[in-house]
Amino acid sequence: MTLIDGKKTASDIKLEIAAEVAEMVARGERAPHLAAILVGHDGGSETYVANKVKACEMCGFKSTLLRFEDDITEEALLDEIRRLNEDDDVDGFIVQLPLPRHIDEQRVTEAIYPEKDVDGFHPVNVGRMSIGLPCFKSATPSGIMDLLERYGIETKGKHAVVLGRSNIVGKPIATLLMQKATPGNCTVTVCHSATPDIATITRSADIIIAALGSPLFLKEEMVKEGAVVIDVGTTRVPDSSRKSGFRLCGDVDFENVAPKCSFITPVPGGVGPMTICSLMKNTLQARKNKM
Ligand code: GUN
Repeated sequence: MTLIDGKKTASDIKLEIAAEVAEMVARGERAPHLAAILVGHDGGSETYVANKVKACEMCGFKSTLLRFEDDITEEALLDEIRRLNEDDDVDGFIVQLPLPRHIDEQRVTEAIYPEKDVDGFHPVNVGRMSIGLPCFKSATPSGIMDLLERYGIETKGKHAVVLGRSNIVGKPIATLLMQKATPGNCTVTVCHSATPDIATITRSADIIIAALGSPLFLKEEMVKEGAVVIDVGTTRVPDSSRKSGFRLCGDVDFENVAPKCSFITPVPGGVGPMTICSLMKNTLQARKNKM
């Protein structure tokens, strides 16, 4: 069994990006610039955005954090987005989700110019990805594909089973795995809350992507010997022994599933660290697209 080290892989990718940015700057070009909009004071969002700013520093990017209180109106937020769309100094930007309930997230997402949508959430980027055109891929599926590639995991002709059909993980990872590409070329089955007898399906899987948000869902008896298991779950469960008061729990019963696997990702330290890398890759690409 090989443990897939997402932290190390993410660190390698950030070093590669930093080296490329250093070369750009040495040639007299401007470094990539990522802006992030954070509305309110949600603890999780604060941490994610702080990590994104830190990753920008590691990659040699310029970053700008724009903070607003959670009583900002939808119109005022849309004005900010229009301003960033037109700002030539900003290569890409994100609006950290979730947003307060009085703001329509879909309207906000669609207000971002697709060429600056480094989260890859705009329907234009989602659509381009689904037909295999150049686009900004969303962070989690892109990070998973990078792990499969960098660990040399054979995907062609394999049966990949995706657990979960969310717009940000399940659907896009299914699309990428079935694409005629490397990695890709899988036969894909997507299971969800209305799928009967999921265990029979997962037992025939060569690759399992667990992205339901249901702690410890995937058990030993649901996995065949030699399978590749990618755990996207990050549910916060109360843990009084931690300073934070919680720990992250994956969708896979790691302790019992891992011995049967050829490759498996841990939680934390698997897919999680890769997501910010994808944002950095997209921001670098946004910069290059303008050159
Ligand atoms: N909230 C949770 N994940 C993400 C993400 O990848 N991008 C944004 N903008 N918000 C998020």
